Amino acid sequence: MALVGSGSAVPAVSLSNQRLSERVDTNDEWIRTRTGIAARRVSAPDEPLTVLATRAAQAALDHAGWSPEDLDLILLATSSPDDLFGTAPRIQAALGARNAVAFDLTAACSGFLFALITAGQYLATGTMGRALVIGADQLSRWVDWDDRSTCVLFGDGAGAVAVQACPAAEGGLLGFRMRSDGSRNGCLTLAQSDTHRELLAGVSAQVGGFAPIRMNGQEVYKFAVREVPAILKELLEATGTPADQLDWLLLHQANQRILDAVAERFAIPQQRVLSNLASYGNTSAATIPLMLDEAVKDGRVQPGHLLASSGFGAGLSWGGALLRWSGPQA
Ligand code: ACO
Repeated sequence: MALVGSGSAVPAVSLSNQRLSERVDTNDEWIRTRTGIAARRVSAPDEPLTVLATRAAQAALDHAGWSPEDLDLILLATSSPDDLFGTAPRIQAALGARNAVAFDLTAACSGFLFALITAGQYLATGTMGRALVIGADQLSRWVDWDDRSTCVLFGDGAGAVAVQACPAAEGGLLGFRMRSDGSRNGCLTLAQSDTHRELLAGVSAQVGGFAPIRMNGQEVYKFAVREVPAILKELLEATGTPADQLDWLLLHQANQRILDAVAERFAIPQQRVLSNLASYGNTSAATIPLMLDEAVKDGRVQPGHLLASSGFGAGLSWGGALLRWSGPQA
């Protein structure tokens, strides 16, 4: 498949570290030095995920020069859907993409990368021709705003990439790896809350709803700095790609220290490491396409550039992909 268009959208409201410290016992210096985050975006109550994701999706369609009817597939990676039955069909309707099939895929912060790889398989088999892969999350709905160890990390956002089938020699997905380890699931959860209701004598049913995000920060940090370099090393070796041939390192934006550690492992200079954590924090499934769109639109990422990407997070799950950006086709 070829990567031919990108788009993104973020809510208007930016919440600085300083403002956040009016609510929880934290401070700008602690957050910046531990994470690199200076601010995050927070969606308004009348700005559901569908609206944010549709804005990103439309921007990617416009960039690719496609009309919504051209789409065969819309894949939405999210852990914060508007509807647990699926939010992607709402985006399909909002776009007017009546020829597409649209469904959700959940893999937390690995979600966008997993969805991009999944879309690539449909395109590689010739089953489908054009797809839109969206990563969108509104974890502001699900963080405990009184838990300073998590609420400072996350923000809301959406990004999308338009991909199309192409001859193998022109492909933009040069290799990939995907992993999960459910035995470490407890390190980072947004789990069903444990509330029951008695329906009849002796018959109880669970009440739907989720408990806020719970995280063992140190375990997640250790996981990321161990597994991300390992999977990227495997990928670079399998594809015969020396690290100095990479134009960009495009990692899930969780923490600047994680980006620095991975870059150091491959001796990739800072100026080739894409980072927008300072402005947006961790937008979960949105970070990779949000970052890619910013770097494409400001001209850093050029057609033909080679990017090593990695998503990682809850599951635990992680993956790597070697990508080549094509840009809009004439
Ligand atoms: N402000 C001020 N102090 C704080 C804050 C805060 N926001 N949060 C915690 N502290 C305090 C703690 O209470 C503790 O104080 P104590 O020593 O008096 O007990 C101290 O700071 C150190 O706390 P640690 O948890 O040990 O801090 P650490 O250095 O591990 O940094 C952090 C925490 C930033 C969360 C780090 O562990 C990390 O980055 N982990 C990875 C988390 C992550 O990226 N998660 C998401 C990735 S997966 C995904 O994207 C879904």
